[in-house]
Amino acid sequence: MGTATQPLTLGIETSCDETSVAVVAGGRKVLSNVIHSQVDLHREFGGVVPELAARDHLERLPHLIELALEGAGVQSQDLDLVAVTRGPGLAGCLLVGVGVGEGLAAAWSKPMTGVNHLWGHIYAALIARPDLEPPLLGLVVSGAHSDLIRMTAHAGFQVLGRSRDDAAGEAFDKAARMLGLGYPGGPALDRLARTGDARRRPLPRPSLPGLEYSFSGLKTALLYRLRDLGEAAGPQDRADLAAAFEHSVVESLLEKLDLALAAAPCSEVVVCGGVAANTLLRRRAAEVVGGRARLTLPALDLCTDNAAMIASAGHHAALALGLQRAVVDPSLNW
Ligand code: KG4
Ligand code: ZN
Repeated sequence: MGTATQPLTLGIETSCDETSVAVVAGGRKVLSNVIHSQVDLHREFGGVVPELAARDHLERLPHLIELALEGAGVQSQDLDLVAVTRGPGLAGCLLVGVGVGEGLAAAWSKPMTGVNHLWGHIYAALIARPDLEPPLLGLVVSGAHSDLIRMTAHAGFQVLGRSRDDAAGEAFDKAARMLGLGYPGGPALDRLARTGDARRRPLPRPSLPGLEYSFSGLKTALLYRLRDLGEAAGPQDRADLAAAFEHSVVESLLEKLDLALAAAPCSEVVVCGGVAANTLLRRRAAEVVGGRARLTLPALDLCTDNAAMIASAGHHAALALGLQRAVVDPSLNW
């Protein structure tokens, strides 16, 4: 067993294309966080193939569990809780993680809790910053979500705004495909944008009233711009368009964060999820938040999917809500 103040949680994450297992002490101290990315498996298809992803999670989990326990220097009997991503995510992939987690918890006679993946992204920031506590204002930007939330207490979230259509990560992935960058698109577009100039071929910045986002119009604008350029689009044009696209997405994300912060000041701001690995977003978020609040951006490997954040969310949610209530309905986003 972990100590009374530092109980040990085994986290399992299989919601999309990363298989990850972690051991976290006291919900904050990462003892191990083993991550296997499936990018090589899906690359030739240009995106995630759900059936292949699910099968690969199942094949790799047993070994990753061994590695995570070994890396943490603990044995199964030392664990206090098993925390597994329950949703949102790809149904077949989630089923694998939940099935394995339930099996382990039963075999080891340990309690298990289902974890909301989006809560996990927020808890990555609590790992990154040991003294960070709610209330906080969060911008969660992942492959399927662009959500502005207020975290009022542990396991207590209110959605302030979200995307009406594509999520920011999805928009980056689609733009990358249009620019011939393939999968995984977000990091490739980030690299290309570093060699471009956003002012040379500007794209519109989406603007909806209030705290809502929309990225589908921007995506269409890029499509038309590329179509108009046709064969004449050289490498520098593509880099400039990548930079312009990135600029529009980032400024739109931060415009609403700025509005939310102005409407209800909060001393802690968190930007997290896979898109929070983006170079420009990280730099501009610091500028936009400025001295109004303390900004926490998890390190890159805690922004993209990982099981340490799931273990942390599971630990805190089980403490705040009790095990049963911490089990999340996969159809719920928050
Ligand atoms: O949170 P995450 O790892 O998985 C989901 O929960 O969806 O986020 C994945 C998303 C993908 O859309 C990916 O393209 C995007 O995060 N992403 C990035 C960068 N790194 C990952 N987008 C822009 N720039 C990056 N550096
Ligand atoms: Zn995620």
